[in-house]
Amino acid sequence: KALDILKEFDDKCQTPISKLRQVADAMTVEMHAGLASDGGSKLKMLISYVDNLPTGDETGIFYALDLGGTNFRVLRVKLGGVENVKKEFQEVSIPPNLMIGNCEDLFDFIAGELAKFVATEGEDMQIPAGTQRELGFTFSFPVKQSSIAGGTLVRWTKGFNIEDAVGQDVVEELTKAMERVGLDMRVSALVNDTVGTLAGGRYSDPDVIAAVILGTGTNAAYVERANAIPKWQGLLPKSGEMVINMEWGNFRSSHLPLTEYDESLDNDSLNPGEQIYEKMISGMYLGEIVRRVLLKMAVEAEFFGDTVPSKLEKPFILRTPDMSAMHHDSTPDLKVVATKLKDILEISNTSLKMRKVIVELCEIVATRGARLSAAGILGILKKTGRDTIKEGEENQKSVIAMDGGLFEHYTKFRNSMQNTMDELLGEEASKNVIIKLSNDGSGLGAALLAASHSQYREYIE
Ligand code: BG6
Ligand code: GLC
Repeated sequence: KALDILKEFDDKCQTPISKLRQVADAMTVEMHAGLASDGGSKLKMLISYVDNLPTGDETGIFYALDLGGTNFRVLRVKLGGVENVKKEFQEVSIPPNLMIGNCEDLFDFIAGELAKFVATEGEDMQIPAGTQRELGFTFSFPVKQSSIAGGTLVRWTKGFNIEDAVGQDVVEELTKAMERVGLDMRVSALVNDTVGTLAGGRYSDPDVIAAVILGTGTNAAYVERANAIPKWQGLLPKSGEMVINMEWGNFRSSHLPLTEYDESLDNDSLNPGEQIYEKMISGMYLGEIVRRVLLKMAVEAEFFGDTVPSKLEKPFILRTPDMSAMHHDSTPDLKVVATKLKDILEISNTSLKMRKVIVELCEIVATRGARLSAAGILGILKKTGRDTIKEGEENQKSVIAMDGGLFEHYTKFRNSMQNTMDELLGEEASKNVIIKLSNDGSGLGAALLAASHSQYREYIE
């Protein structure tokens, strides 16, 4: 019976290439719709106001602040050319109560940590006397920007839910909090983590055309032609380009292989009906999907004996890093799986057969997520005309800068995504598409964008 549940789930999760192509096509269609008008699509296709990516000539000392992944980070970056970047940073985890509390408390905490970090400024990282410190703020949530350094929060995603912050200008909130703690600093750039990663990636590689985050959440940003954005009301930028934050986590399509577990996960989430693609792919949710299937096997098929292990009923108790550890277990008797089950779910005495079932379940969930994310990337390549080889032309490389704990640490997920990409593009075209881990590119990217939008820029130049 438990095997029937597994089999049925597996069948529903199938992502043959034909289906992935439909997903990619749907992604392209939604991209067009989201660029045409606000509210035209589930894809917000947010305008980042970044119309010039870093060149390598940026100089100076800048701060960056990175909020929205697993950890909150503060950075100090000394820029002096691609080969000459000095970075100092500190990582702090956000107290969980602040993620669902109120706006002022969250920003006071951030500003407080930033002030502590500024106090550690060493001799060689001092900004020139008489100038104000400047900051690039990576805020990894959907923001409707009004300029490069301002914008209002559209809504929270992932584990955050602070009602009184929705609709507020997050730069104003941060600036007020900095004033409260007596920190004199100007926010020069507000960027999504995808946009920061794109900027950071481009700094050292001119072929970077998009960035994807596969971490707690998932999202992508890419370089669009400014005249292909009908909803853009402003002047055409000189570069002719504009970086778009897709907010692809909110993508949804009838082609997505949704199961009853995805539906119940969504219903019970902080943001029902939203971020459906993200809930099938990203690190916050993969372990939780596995837990839900296991729970059904326990309840309906007595998979763990005649009582349902009570820990298994606790949402989010099985985290994706633990799922990954079980999935990668290479011991002959699946010792890692046994240990995880015991330590996390207080389940002991499992047979090898049962542990194999669990590994199989991890494989199904991870493979579906990895393949769907590859389809999303194909959508971007199609939209930008980079998915095929053009006869008789020089075929430019397309580099996708990647970041996020899921991509970085979940090897089987990463490999499955890469293989699916190759399968989708075919041998020839896949040679020109490179997926490159750009670890913490976003912190550097935010500092670079703060530099190129510095109030002292003309003076420096
Ligand atoms: C980091 C970026 O490296 O990756 C963050 O700087 C981003 O801005 C994060 O949110 C995503 O990873 P995770 O796995 O921590 O969600
Ligand atoms: C969520 C956020 C998005 C962010 C992504 C990755 O999808 O809405 O802004 O880029 O997570 O961190």
